[in-house]
Amino acid sequence: MGANRITITQLQEMKKKGEKISMVTAYDYSMAKLVDEAGLEMILVGDSLGMVVLGYDTTIPVTLDDMIHHAKAVTRGAKSSLVVADLPFLSYQISTEQALQSARRMMQEAGVQALKLEGGSEIAPTVRALVNAGVPVMGHLGLTPQAVNQLGGFKVQGKDLKGAKKIIKDAEALEEAGAFAIVLECVPAPLAKIITERLSIPVIGIGAGNGCDGQVLVINDLLGFFNDFTPKFVKRYGEFGKQIVEALKLYKQEVSSGQFPAAEHCFSMQEETLSKLY
Ligand code: KIV
Repeated sequence: MGANRITITQLQEMKKKGEKISMVTAYDYSMAKLVDEAGLEMILVGDSLGMVVLGYDTTIPVTLDDMIHHAKAVTRGAKSSLVVADLPFLSYQISTEQALQSARRMMQEAGVQALKLEGGSEIAPTVRALVNAGVPVMGHLGLTPQAVNQLGGFKVQGKDLKGAKKIIKDAEALEEAGAFAIVLECVPAPLAKIITERLSIPVIGIGAGNGCDGQVLVINDLLGFFNDFTPKFVKRYGEFGKQIVEALKLYKQEVSSGQFPAAEHCFSMQEETLSKLY
């Protein structure tokens, strides 16, 4: 374990002091190393990897083995950031025993420090069981992508009174069950602010406005890897997709023209050895 790794207690203290928490997703060693170097408090190995890394339409096909494979790479790269991993679709809802087994694999095989579970009051007993077993749990409410088929698409949640009240109730149930933080995804900013003020644990928003205790974004969105679609709540802090394509075009051009590799990229050998070869 990293000697100076951020702890859940430090995150909770940050909330008390009004210091904002930054989190992004990462799915591999190199990116985790960069995020860690940038000093972000948390890295999420999100099951969004199903969409941005594996090319699925939703997060539903992602398996526990997929998550463990990527989380292992991330934990090798992250020395200071707290690494949280998603438990994927139906890897924790079948029974408490199943949730504990999935948690055991994620923590022992991948070495993450915490797990994120989607859902509200209905999973509170599972959260309690995990917390009792020593697993730090982050909740996830609002737009819960694993329930996309039930929600009828990737839509803003909690816009009407009934929906908003349910999210508040669920957030309180998760806190009561021992969650150390929750993610609120795609909810109106005023609702997120109310929840942030009501809870004593950090509330990390994505598409939930500026009133939360912190923010999380999918790294591929933040870095501008894709050009086809940018969700409203994403700010692109880079245009690396375009830069990658430009770099690859130049590489192709230089390979075709023979400009690459140049002398400085090549290994030489002794003239004497060479003449014997000839
Ligand atoms: O899987 C993921 O990346 C997430 C974030 C969108 C919060 O759950």
